[in-house]
Amino acid sequence: MKTLKILGIETSCDETAVSLIEVDSGSGAVRVLGNTVHSQIDVHASYGGVFPTLAKREHEKNLIPVLMETLEEADALKKTSSASVDLSILTLLDREPELKEAFSQAIPSIARPDIDYIAVTVGPGLEPALWVGINFARALAAIWNVPLVPCNHMEGHILTALIEKAPAGVKTGDAFKLVDRDVSYPALSLLISGGHTQIILMDKVGSYKIVGETLDDAVGECFDKTARVLGLPYPGGPKISMLAGQARAEDIKLATPLPRPMIASDSPDFSFSGLKTAVLYAVKKETGMTPDLEKAYAREIEDAITDVIIAKMKKAIETYAAGTIVIGGGVIANAHIRDTLERLANECSIGILLPRTDHSTDNALMIALAGYMNREKALDPKSEATKALKAMGTLPLGPRA
Ligand code: KG4
Ligand code: ZN
Repeated sequence: MKTLKILGIETSCDETAVSLIEVDSGSGAVRVLGNTVHSQIDVHASYGGVFPTLAKREHEKNLIPVLMETLEEADALKKTSSASVDLSILTLLDREPELKEAFSQAIPSIARPDIDYIAVTVGPGLEPALWVGINFARALAAIWNVPLVPCNHMEGHILTALIEKAPAGVKTGDAFKLVDRDVSYPALSLLISGGHTQIILMDKVGSYKIVGETLDDAVGECFDKTARVLGLPYPGGPKISMLAGQARAEDIKLATPLPRPMIASDSPDFSFSGLKTAVLYAVKKETGMTPDLEKAYAREIEDAITDVIIAKMKKAIETYAAGTIVIGGGVIANAHIRDTLERLANECSIGILLPRTDHSTDNALMIALAGYMNREKALDPKSEATKALKAMGTLPLGPRA
């Protein structure tokens, strides 16, 4: 069986990430050779959320250093003086002048790394941000003559839950196995992030149908927006989660419960904008915000969100007789939601797969894995299909179930 090396590139939101993995296509063993994530959180914090044109500029600035760091970590960075570069390739980066300049300086002076595929996120995400990664991947694929695999960001989040647990904190040399064989199908995937809230029905890896999704705000967005109402800085999710934990430990509760939008409805869809509005009105009525009241709100917000997620998942598990639930997305770093989903899986006597918390936020390992799984869809770097690739901000993972 062949060992394949895949370079993953991710720029769909506010993380610039590049990862290089090696997969034994026989055993499914995956080794992370290099993995770099550059977060832009500090740059966006003052805007209270991700600002698309700023994200584009940051990706332009960060992609070359992030690629170099990954190659270096993988021991795949070799200087050369012999590479002659077809300068017409650089026109692929005409819309990213800062990246074009850095690319023309850095890439011709390194030897082509030993890679079999380049995988890149084409959607969903912020289009200005996605374009930077796509054009960068196209230029690298052309210069190194490597096939290009267009990937769906949400499939990447699912795949991070399908790799075996490994000790946290390890970087280079991380070894996993793709444990798809351990999934009992049909499986249901819950994807909760700053931009998405979806329940996906999976018959196998690569076959997805959307069971339910949010009609307005995503779960992470709801955490961030309600946190903002409480005066907490962006991203508010981790802060709400910390305060909610303190409230539970100190037995602090909010006197009047917040709504659980659509919890009793037959619809498998979610809605969170009403919760944000409810928090806004409730906080306005308070005479002042004390540390205890802040904790009480955080706990009630986390409980309301968790109750809705659990109710929708429980119903979907029954409806589709799911054998395993597979969880992904940045919000799954939330300990309370993790624990509650684990309890739900136990009660239903089904399996649950959760990603390592350091793999749950956006990264390029997930895109390299998606590239491996979709390698038969790889495009020749010089083909018309590669030229026609475009950013797809709302790319769905599949049709509605
Ligand atoms: O997947 P992700 O890194 O980026 C997107 O693709 O959106 O998710 C980021 C989201 C943010 O809204 C952040 O507030 C939320 O995940 N988040 C959390 C926690 N950690 C991150 N929400 C609740 N509790 C947490 N511990
Ligand atoms: Zn994401």
